[in-house]
Amino acid sequence: MKNKKIIVAGNWKMNKTYLEAKEFIAKLNQLPDYTSQVIIAAPSLYVDTLFINNQKENLALALQNCSAYESGAFTGEISARMIASLQLKYCIVGHSERRSYFEETDEIISDKIAQLIHYNVQPIFCIGETLQERKVNETFNVIRKQLVRGLEKVPVEKIGNIVLAYEPVWAIGTGMTATKEQAAEVHKFIFQLLSEIYNPEAAARIPILYGGSCNEKNAEELFYQPHIWGGLIGGASLDVNSFYKIIQIAEKINGE
Ligand code: PGA
Repeated sequence: MKNKKIIVAGNWKMNKTYLEAKEFIAKLNQLPDYTSQVIIAAPSLYVDTLFINNQKENLALALQNCSAYESGAFTGEISARMIASLQLKYCIVGHSERRSYFEETDEIISDKIAQLIHYNVQPIFCIGETLQERKVNETFNVIRKQLVRGLEKVPVEKIGNIVLAYEPVWAIGTGMTATKEQAAEVHKFIFQLLSEIYNPEAAARIPILYGGSCNEKNAEELFYQPHIWGGLIGGASLDVNSFYKIIQIAEKINGE
């Protein structure tokens, strides 16, 4: 796949104090420049300051979640319009932790994606099966359902604004990474589904990241798989040195 460019996205989740977050960015600023697209989804409270402190041209700060609603009386929520007003380019949507702990349904996720697309913020749309679903051979059905429902309100002319992330729930935060074969099989399936829903040309341009215990040790073999466009990295994105090693892997592959 000649058009594939590896993307490295970090998901800090609910970690780091303000000072720790600023220190991370300061350290990253000191490391050599890179040309690959790097994204960090930081706690929303600090995104703006980190954005101002960031000196790396290819580092985009992102949100981890947004509201399904446009605006109004929704205490505590952050809208896609607000995210766009800070010129932030990306927002994670449909992460399995939001699906399970905050009961986000495919319908809610589809509304969030529609909001983000409307305001030109690129959703990093997460899908993935649980261990139980994998054990009973439901992986492909679960992926199909999540993908079709999540993208329901995304017309073909807007699909270029989507980044997908395949994150098997059993691999998130467990140290149990999917093997490169397991990941490659699902990524290929997602690509085929996108080709069906939209068309093969559009599908070939949609990045599909892998997430779930991805780190500096396993990133390279995963990123070399045909339909894997990089990683959505939780634990290993918290340490600037580990994260930078993954960026270097992206640099190597993108430079070939
Ligand atoms: P992990 O998290 O790398 O810690 O498994 C990935 C994610 O949840 O996005």
